[in-house]
Amino acid sequence: MIGEFIDQENLVASRSAIKEIFFLSSRSGAKLSGSEKEIFFQIWAGYYLDILPAQTLVFKTNLGKVVGYLTGCYNSIAALGLYKNLFYYRAFETYYSQYPTHFHVNCHPDFRNKGIGGALVEEFVQNSAKQGATGVHLVTGSSARNHRFYQSHEFYHKATKGFSSGDLVLLGRKCSA
Ligand SMILES: CC(C)(COP(=O)(O)OP(=O)(O)OC[C@H]1O[C@@H](n2cnc3c(N)ncnc32)[C@H](O)[C@@H]1OP(=O)(O)O)[C@@H](O)C(=O)NCCC(=O)NCCS
Repeated sequence: MIGEFIDQENLVASRSAIKEIFFLSSRSGAKLSGSEKEIFFQIWAGYYLDILPAQTLVFKTNLGKVVGYLTGCYNSIAALGLYKNLFYYRAFETYYSQYPTHFHVNCHPDFRNKGIGGALVEEFVQNSAKQGATGVHLVTGSSARNHRFYQSHEFYHKATKGFSSGDLVLLGRKCSA
């Protein structure tokens, strides 16, 4: 079952489940400890939970366990905290007028390949369209395993930018009216 993060009965428990999934899904984050680990989480996920809690979705099992989440942002141009903290954010900004909303999605490793990630993405695209957005984008590694997943949800390559840590790509999908 999909719900908005802001509507969760127990926000502290939901946040901690999201944090666990986040670090199970992030190779670079898993290597960190202490305050570095906290800062890393805050930059990539905590910002969305704190500032955009109604734009973030969680997937819960029938038993109420959070097993997947999608941190979303309906207005990428207005997300000043992301400009400040996400190293790649400004590099792709010319695409934000065409693809104003963006997201990051992760599922618990024990609950992948069950359609949960896909359901979260489709819900966010629908929500974005309801907000009047013309398109949705995401940024991922140019050689990440997830390209086929995104392609099956109609996200296509729009731009590549090079960074010292490797190339990143912006994948975009137009919203239908
Ligand atoms: C990518 C991800 C969100 C997809 O969610 P999901 O619930 O597993 O996906 P669905 O069941 O809806 O769809 C299955 C697709 O996901 C792909 N997938 C499964 N595990 C994956 C993984 N670890 N990394 C990338 N893609 C994966 C499958 O290959 C499948 O694609 P296919 O049908 O073309 O073979 C999820 O697998 C995940 O959290 N992966 C690791 C973190 C990640 O890559 N997040 C995206 C960051 S931009």
